[in-house]
Amino acid sequence: MQYLIGVDLGTSGTKTVLFDVHGKEIASALEEYPMYQPHNGWAEQDPNDWWNAAVNTIRAVIAKSGVAPKDIAGLSLSGQMHGLVLTDEKGEALGRSIIWCDNRTIESCDEFTRLVGGRERLIQISANPALTGFTAGKILWVRKNQPDIWEKARHIQLPKDYVRLKLTGAYHMEMSDASGTNLLDVPNRCWSKEICEKIGLDMSMLPPLVESSDVAGYISPEAARLTGLCAGMPVAAGAGDNMAAAIGTGVVCEGKAFTTIGTSGVIFAHSDTVQIDPMGRVHTFCAAVPGAYVVMGVGLAAGLSLKWCRDTFFQAEIEAAREMGTDSYVLMNQEAARSPIGANRLLYLPYLMGERSPILDPEARGVLFGLSAMHTKKDIVRAVMEGVMYSQWHNLNVLRGMHVAPDAMLACGGGAKSPFWRQMMADMYAMPVSTLQNTEGPALGAAILAGVGAGIYRDVPSACAQILKENEPLLPDQGRHDAYAPYFALYQKIYLDLKDSFHTLAQL
Ligand code: XUL
Repeated sequence: MQYLIGVDLGTSGTKTVLFDVHGKEIASALEEYPMYQPHNGWAEQDPNDWWNAAVNTIRAVIAKSGVAPKDIAGLSLSGQMHGLVLTDEKGEALGRSIIWCDNRTIESCDEFTRLVGGRERLIQISANPALTGFTAGKILWVRKNQPDIWEKARHIQLPKDYVRLKLTGAYHMEMSDASGTNLLDVPNRCWSKEICEKIGLDMSMLPPLVESSDVAGYISPEAARLTGLCAGMPVAAGAGDNMAAAIGTGVVCEGKAFTTIGTSGVIFAHSDTVQIDPMGRVHTFCAAVPGAYVVMGVGLAAGLSLKWCRDTFFQAEIEAAREMGTDSYVLMNQEAARSPIGANRLLYLPYLMGERSPILDPEARGVLFGLSAMHTKKDIVRAVMEGVMYSQWHNLNVLRGMHVAPDAMLACGGGAKSPFWRQMMADMYAMPVSTLQNTEGPALGAAILAGVGAGIYRDVPSACAQILKENEPLLPDQGRHDAYAPYFALYQKIYLDLKDSFHTLAQL
C-alpha cells in the first residue's frame, strides 16, 4: 500500500494527515501557534512557527501510523491565503508575516488601486478589487513603513510556499494562492507585467508559477533529516485553503459548490471558465483543478456570530451541556427550533467584524433589528442563525447572477454539524444540501493533489470520484422557502438603510 500526506497550514495551527491512497485517514497531528496582534486590527504570525509545526506534525504522523517512509508516495500543502512572507537571498524569512485577517492596509490598498489605474482596470486584470486581506496592499505597506526589511527582501512567498521552499529548496507559487495577491493576471494565469510595472515591483521577486497538482520540488536531504521523510519524495504545489477544501469535497466540476460555516462563512462554486463580478463583490480565483476557476463569497462572522451569541446569552446552556456531556450548540439549536421562521419578527445582520462579500464594507457592524419585550433567547439565537444564512443566500444570488449557480450544495465546517442549520440552508437556497463522509477537506484535498503529482491518480476529478462519498441530502421545502423570502428582502434593505450610519459610527 502507498500513502500520501496532506499538510493544512491554518491560522490557529497546522494539521497534518497521513492517508492511504483510498483516502482513508491513517494518522493525524496538530500543532498550534500564536497570532500576534501588536495593534488593533493587525495580525501577524512567525513563519518559523509554521515551519516547525510542519516538521513536528510530519514526524508525528509517520511515528503514529507506523508507515515506512519509503511507502509515502508524496506530500502537498493547503494554506491560509494572502499572508506576505518576504525572504532574503538565502530563503530565510525576514521577520513576521502580515497575514490574511490583518486590516492595516486600507490606505495602501487605495494607493495600489490608484497606481494600477483604478478599480475597474484592476478587476479586469486581477479579477478582484484590492482588499485589505490580500497581499498587494501588504507589499506596499512594508515598502513604505519597513524600508529596512524591504531592502533585504529578494522573494515574495505565501505561507504554504515558504514551508514548501523549506521542504524542497525550490521557489514556486501556484495559481490558486497567487490569485489572492492582486498581482496575478487571473484570466491568463500569469503574473501581470502591467500591474508590476505600474506599482514599480521588480518581477524577479515573484516566484515561477505552477498548477496545484504539479510537482514543485523534491524533499531535500536536510528536510528529510528533520521530518523523517525520504529525500527525493515529490512535493506537489498545493492550494489555498478553500481551493484545497474544494478538492477534498469533490467540488471540481460545474454545478458543484460548498458552503462552509466555520468562524467565517464561505460559499464556493466551481466554474470551468473565468467569471468575474465587475463590482468585485465576490472573489474569482484560479481553481486547484488545472485550468479551471472558482467564485467564492466570504462572510467574516458566520460561526463567530453563533459563538458570540453563545458566550453572551447562553452561559446556562454551556454549564448544562457540560453536566449532560453534550455540546452547548446542540442545546442552542433546540432553543432556536422553538422560535418560528422570522424569529417573531427579529432580524440579525452578521457584520461583527465588518464584512467582505457581498457588501465589501469594513465599517459595517452587527445589528439585531426589531427587538421587542416579547423576545427571548430562543428568538435571538434563531435570528442569529437565520442572519448568518441570509448572508450566504445574499452571496449565492451574486453567484447566480454570474451564471455559476450550483444545483446542489455541500455543507462543511463546524456549523454544518447542525441538521437544523443545514435544513435552513436547503430551504433558503431552495436546493438539496448534503454532507460528506470524508471530513478532512483541506488536508485531504492536499493529499489528493500530492497523489496526482506523484502519478497515483490520473487527474483531480477522477481521484475525487474514487475517494469521496456523500451522505443523503436534506431536501428543500418550498413553503418554508417562501416564508423566509420577505425576511430576506428586509435583511438586504436594512444594510442599505444603515450604510451611512455605520460610517458615521466608525468616525465617532
Ligand atoms: C480567502 C481567505 C481565507 C484565508 C484564511 O480569501 O481570506 O480563506 O485563506 O482561511
